[in-house]
Amino acid sequence: MGFSADWLALREPADHRSRSAELLATLAKRVDGRDVLRITDLGCGTGSNLRATAPAFGPRQEWTLVDYDPALLKRAEQVLSEWADEAKPAGERLVLVKDGKTIEVAFRIADLNVELEQVICGAIDIVTASALFDLISEAWMRRFVKALKTTPAIFYTVLTYNGEDDFIPAHPFDWGMINAFKIHQRRDKGFGPAEGPMAAATLARLLREEGYGVETADTPWVLKPSDIALKTELLKGLHGAVMETGLIADNGADDWLFWRTSMGDQKGSRMKTGHTDILAVNP
Ligand SMILES: C[S@@+](CC[C@H](N)C(=O)[O-])C[C@H]1O[C@@H](n2cnc3c(N)ncnc32)[C@H](O)[C@@H]1O
Repeated sequence: MGFSADWLALREPADHRSRSAELLATLAKRVDGRDVLRITDLGCGTGSNLRATAPAFGPRQEWTLVDYDPALLKRAEQVLSEWADEAKPAGERLVLVKDGKTIEVAFRIADLNVELEQVICGAIDIVTASALFDLISEAWMRRFVKALKTTPAIFYTVLTYNGEDDFIPAHPFDWGMINAFKIHQRRDKGFGPAEGPMAAATLARLLREEGYGVETADTPWVLKPSDIALKTELLKGLHGAVMETGLIADNGADDWLFWRTSMGDQKGSRMKTGHTDILAVNP
């Protein structure tokens, strides 16, 4: 399955404002004072997670950005260079200076299905991911937690879809459309049958079973008329996924999409897409 850089750019402002500031502050406090912070970001896309998280950490950071899509990693290099105050290549790496912090970035092409244990090993302070874990199966999560346990890393993942969706105003087909969408979210997205809306709960449970101290926070997107572009893409994506399930009659799904997109810019309308952030600390 592919993720376009344009889609990731469109969602980035909503992602950044929805994340839990409290959970990030708790994480930052835990790692405060470390000389260099080594962070691995799984399924990094164009580096949105780094842009949102790095400002909370200390003056020297070393990030490894991991994705299996080389085009997204290339774009990450460009977008991060534009985001930083200064950007200099250093061999295979990029050295960024942002607000007085030095952030060294390595880009690693890896399929996490194949190379998980090679990516999560050794001296890592934080393993992180944004908008990744709802794509993942319970079996892969178990494998992930096992690999994580071999490291001293704290685990921090944000914006895992949790299925707690809601619309104002309501439409009679909302329930059917959302439920068909959730069924689609359980399909195999490359890591075995995805946990989809159950992902955050399953992951938190598996981490607790391995003895991690786990904190979670609700971090929904709350989209207002000013978010019309994101909302429209999201509704179209939801409609497309529902059509693939064949669970809702085509004309019903089409009417719903037409009604929802035309309501999109009306005063007082709101769309909530549920997410969860998770912080897990090694015992
Ligand atoms: C929803 S996007 C999130 C991107 C980014 N973390 C963000 O928040 O903008 C999921 C990302 O996971 C990556 N991904 C999906 N399956 C992967 C796999 N098997 N190995 C490595 N990366 C993968 C995709 O290429 C994509 O960049």
